[in-house]
Amino acid sequence: MNKNPHVPAEEIAAQAEYSRMCADIIRERYYYKIPLAYVHSFGCQQNVSDGEKIKGMLSQMGYGFTDNADEADFILFNTCAVREGAESRVFGNVGSMKKQKQRNPKITLALCGCMVQQEHISLKIKKSYPYVDLLFGTHVLHKLPQMMHERLSSMSRVFNITEDEGTIAEDIPIRRDGTVKAWVPIMYGCNNFCTYCVVPLVRGRERSRCPDRVLDEIRSLIVDGYKEVCLLGQNVNSYRAGSDFDMNFSQLLREINNIEGDFRIRFMTSHPKDASHELIDTIADCGKVCRHIHLPVQSGSDRILQLMNRGYTADSYLSLVEYAKNKIPGVAFTSDIIVGFPGETEEDFAKTLELVKRVGFSSLFTFIYSKREGTKAAQYSDQTPKEEIDRRFKQLTDLQAQIAADNFAGRIGQSVRVLVDSQGRLSPDYVGGRDDSGSNVEFKGGTELIGSFADVEITDFRSAIIVGQCRMQN
Ligand code: 5AD
Ligand code: SF4
Repeated sequence: MNKNPHVPAEEIAAQAEYSRMCADIIRERYYYKIPLAYVHSFGCQQNVSDGEKIKGMLSQMGYGFTDNADEADFILFNTCAVREGAESRVFGNVGSMKKQKQRNPKITLALCGCMVQQEHISLKIKKSYPYVDLLFGTHVLHKLPQMMHERLSSMSRVFNITEDEGTIAEDIPIRRDGTVKAWVPIMYGCNNFCTYCVVPLVRGRERSRCPDRVLDEIRSLIVDGYKEVCLLGQNVNSYRAGSDFDMNFSQLLREINNIEGDFRIRFMTSHPKDASHELIDTIADCGKVCRHIHLPVQSGSDRILQLMNRGYTADSYLSLVEYAKNKIPGVAFTSDIIVGFPGETEEDFAKTLELVKRVGFSSLFTFIYSKREGTKAAQYSDQTPKEEIDRRFKQLTDLQAQIAADNFAGRIGQSVRVLVDSQGRLSPDYVGGRDDSGSNVEFKGGTELIGSFADVEITDFRSAIIVGQCRMQN
């Protein structure tokens, strides 16, 4: 493990200088307008957070932003590799850019992120997608200004994909998507090598940001008026591992909880093998930490969990859930489940259904197993027939819908505190947000409420949305 994975400050300063040089070229080339960038991040919150850094750097170069790729001068897809479907969507999007590039060769089309970090994909793009101008992997994001400078000055194709254990780049400009909730990465990479997962192959080894940097970032977000921070990491419970500072994840949570201000703290993702009683006790003690734990279980069968290399059993998972339910009144659990892992039998799947019933998740992210090149599970031959997987998938989502509906029905009459973050989906005169447990709540109210907390009494629910009435805004 690289003990000091930080990108040196001189390197970050050199990139800021490249940004200035790009700004000069851009001002000259686009003297008649502000050039527009279209940045689309696929996949997880870590990717969304990377996208905010990309936009920060582009903004420094003088780009404005658009949601319409047709009018953009710079188009970037920040890709995801977790499942095949995500990759196919990117190829579809890139393919549809061909005509636009033919019409206007001045456009720069860029691809970055987890998908292109895989060698077989980057080779395919280099060879078969000649109109992709800029291709860079996950370890060189902070070098975007330098790569853009090369592209803008030569108009040639630029490729930068390095095999790396991974770095931490601080002090990159960030252009955040929202003004109420902010993503704050606390660590990068993953060491767990779950046998189905491509993430450790494309995001490098675990490395943690220094607590001082995390705390400073959060303090300034609160000063800027943010009301929620979501701490990000593939496995936040192994925060600190291998670092030279002395603060584990629970201690970090307590420090953040001590920051002055009316705001909430969320985090994701917790790996069940590393989620400790100390973590549960910390959530129970810290008033700002939401009573919601996203704890991906993946399967309820010990045999499958072992084949997945998850490092826990259904029983140990359930006893952790039990401990949390006793310690944190009203705690909500959400989870990820993979259906159709190679060799999953009907009996294994029945154990997953059983576990889902016992925990009573407030919501579930359910995925059909997707074979990923380079992972251990890709060598497992015993694939389950597709019709069988589809049937299991439906059985699981039906069960979860029933559990969620029962859970919502039981909550009618309760009062919840909602952080209002958007206009409602149920009706234009509604606003919406999440309660402490992470449920979507909507109620009648004006958009001036966005960015504030509201006490809402639950009156009804419609599929995944809780409906309520505002009792007090604060
Ligand atoms: N196939 C299906 N789902 C996957 N996930 C990760 N890799 C795969 C795969 N190969 C799911 C896991 C993980 C979530 C982020 O994505 O459930 O928790
Ligand atoms: Fe993938 Fe497992 Fe790491 Fe999560 S913990 S990113 S599922 S390898």
